[in-house]
Amino acid sequence: MITNWEQLEQECKICEKCSLCQTRTQVVFGVGNKNSKVLLIGEGPGENEDLQGEPFVGRGGKFLDKMLAAVDLDRNENIYIANIVKCRPPQNRDPLPEEQEACLPWLRNQVMLLKPKIIVCLGRIAAMKLIKPDIKITKEHGIFVEKNGVLMMATLHPAALLRNPAQKPAAFEDFLKLREKIDELGLANPPQ
Ligand code: URA
Repeated sequence: MITNWEQLEQECKICEKCSLCQTRTQVVFGVGNKNSKVLLIGEGPGENEDLQGEPFVGRGGKFLDKMLAAVDLDRNENIYIANIVKCRPPQNRDPLPEEQEACLPWLRNQVMLLKPKIIVCLGRIAAMKLIKPDIKITKEHGIFVEKNGVLMMATLHPAALLRNPAQKPAAFEDFLKLREKIDELGLANPPQ
């Protein structure tokens, strides 16, 4: 394990542990307040993220930012955002199991440094990997489960919400529950 953020990011940015390194523009390490105790985890970078080097900056990301803002959360203030895989899978396909396994040590190291109290999985891929392999997001979104002292919850992926707007209210409920939990645990105002 690497014990400081700068070194972790430097090493992650030159990672060649799987073949996604051959097609990426750059590694998308993560973004947010490193003192936050709330971690959101997506699947992997898409085209915009690969070009800009930051998670969730495309259309889905803009929508995520809106939902976050509605419950007073902001990637530059009070949460941290990362992905299961740090490099874009070609044509935005799902990351392969071996790519997820190869990349997971980076996320584990981020978790070790951040020590989150709440983890929100954005979409099926993150929820299957981190909560349980047979999770059914449509049924089990918005439910907090405790794992190793961390409260974990899955919600619908922002890109899925853009494809299927009828699910937006359900996702918004999840963000309201997240807000309630943050307030209940006193995690609202991390140091900058
Ligand atoms: N989708 C994800 O899961 N993560 C990103 O960073 C962007 C889109």
